[in-house]
Amino acid sequence: MIKKGIILSGGKGTRMSPLTKAVNKQLLPIYDKPLIYYPLSILMLAKIRDILIVVNKGQLEQYKKLLPNGKHLGIKISYVEQDKPRGLPDAFILGEKFIGKSGVSLILGDNFFYGQYLSEKLKQSIKVKNGARVFLHKVKSPEKYGVAKIKKNKIMLIKEKPKKYFSDFAITGLYFFDKNVVRYSKELKPSKRGELEITDLLNKYKKKNKLSADFIGRGGAWLDTGSISDYYKTSNFVSAIENRQGFKIACIEEIAFLNKWITKKHVKNSIKFYGNCEYSTYLKKLIQ
Ligand code: DAU
Repeated sequence: MIKKGIILSGGKGTRMSPLTKAVNKQLLPIYDKPLIYYPLSILMLAKIRDILIVVNKGQLEQYKKLLPNGKHLGIKISYVEQDKPRGLPDAFILGEKFIGKSGVSLILGDNFFYGQYLSEKLKQSIKVKNGARVFLHKVKSPEKYGVAKIKKNKIMLIKEKPKKYFSDFAITGLYFFDKNVVRYSKELKPSKRGELEITDLLNKYKKKNKLSADFIGRGGAWLDTGSISDYYKTSNFVSAIENRQGFKIACIEEIAFLNKWITKKHVKNSIKFYGNCEYSTYLKKLIQ
């Protein structure tokens, strides 16, 4: 069982400048909560309780104000600083001590997932023991992402941001790896853009026939928060769903409470922490 997860929450955020000049992108709001709540909620739905957040050097205090050590959620949150964006697999090199001899999940701090059966799929994925698993989603502009060619549910080819079209399946920013991930990451060489590439790491697993894929089908959403316009589209999506249903997406206290990791007392403390706001009103209803 994979019990550890990493949120990669640094990056330059240049595409969203000047918004990201003073504040890290993952701390900006997607509708009514900071972006990082969304990937964090995904790990929590996968029942992962030991979480490492990789942040930019100098931004640790910003994060700790919002998410200190995780006790309020019945989880453990630790941090490591990245001095410059060396690429996604750098998370495993920085997280070597945290990972130890376990398997680990990685989620990108700017990725948004939503949909029925997602929790079930997540619970299946943490069972990955020997190998790696990715989640694929069909998109209109695959050239913006890591892309996988699929035949009979098997991955035939993987490429990072391919110029020439070969498949509509983007590799989303949620990955599950066995304990070899640190060793394999250390063997990687930077690509032309000067970063360690997650697709190169996945290709190592593929070569050994140890890469599997699951799908976020058309009933599910994997949304982009890369550009300003995509960012606001995601925010509007959350607003539309939440205001229609009355349920919140990625309310981390609700997930912790329903998982029985925290009690009403913890939720009350969170209400105090947040103060008088709509999010607190939602939490009050939860424990009534
Ligand atoms: O969103 C999914 C895509 O994410 C995958 O399909 C691609 O295969 C994968 O390479 C990645 O593509 P991007 O080029 O869009 O990743 P980006 O550089 O935007 O980084 C994603 C997040 O990770 C972002 O929140 C910043 C953070 N990050 C990134 C790097 C490279 C770090 O914290 N440290 C880093 O070194």
